[in-house]
Amino acid sequence: MPKAKNTRHFITQDDFTTDEIKEVFAMADIFNDTKSSNTLQDKLIVTLFFENSTRTRSSFEIAAKRLGAKVVNLDLGTSSSSKGESIEDTVANLNAMNPDAIVMRHRTSGLPKSLTRYVNCPIINAGDGKNSHPTQALLDLYTIQEHFRGDIDGKSIAIVGDIKNSRVASSNIKLLPRFGLKLILVAPECFMPMDDEFEKAHQLTDVIDRVDIVMSLRTQIERHSESHYKSLEQYGQDYCITKDIFGDRDVLLLHPGPVNRNIDISDDMLADTRCKVLRQVTNGVAIRMAILLKLLETSG
Ligand code: NCD
Repeated sequence: MPKAKNTRHFITQDDFTTDEIKEVFAMADIFNDTKSSNTLQDKLIVTLFFENSTRTRSSFEIAAKRLGAKVVNLDLGTSSSSKGESIEDTVANLNAMNPDAIVMRHRTSGLPKSLTRYVNCPIINAGDGKNSHPTQALLDLYTIQEHFRGDIDGKSIAIVGDIKNSRVASSNIKLLPRFGLKLILVAPECFMPMDDEFEKAHQLTDVIDRVDIVMSLRTQIERHSESHYKSLEQYGQDYCITKDIFGDRDVLLLHPGPVNRNIDISDDMLADTRCKVLRQVTNGVAIRMAILLKLLETSG
């Protein structure tokens, strides 16, 4: 297969240097103000989602269309993967139709990286198992930067919930310290990752006075081999982010979505001005526009 000269993929947050991330953020600032352009009007982007998605898939599609690109969403219910075709063959066949980028999500960690051998256009990872979700981490960091007007060095963030099974946590744990953020991991033992690099706590109340940001996570039950709680409600009794816990502290609240209401975050905290969940969604489009533009302009 002829290899495109400069094909760049976006598989993990480490594929972009710190300067490149700053460049992406500067582009996102412009896209948040201008909404659309036709820079990618002759490009075609395929989205390939083997796992459920509401936000990420529509965010990529809107981002691509705002840049003038055409988008083909492969409907996996009717695709040949249900006829026994291997994912490698599916991707090689799609690549043979010469798309300009493939955005993919799959439950297998590491799959987007291994598929880069079968394509000559950029692959953008929209989530692989519990491994990585780099565009989400970038939009999270961007939302934090925006809130603190760039002054984030030394700020502390508590990541709360099923950290062990979350690709959002996994990407953020690697990305945020690069920008000077201090991490505190808050989870029950069953959801705590092994690494000892970061401060750990079992309850948010133990650390809430020392943090500037709280990132709540959904419990990734689809990745659990055994049940750790009798019910999500029982988990929520200990880990739901409530007004009682936040009080009147000046703390930013984030969540990648989908939120399990009154389990991850209470109704009143979701409606609170400190909660920026919908701002994350808005910023997600601008960030994905910037990433698409960067990869498609440099690949080819
Ligand atoms: C996350 C994901 O898919 O990893 N969702 C998203 O992309 N916004 C988080 C989750 O599913 O809990």
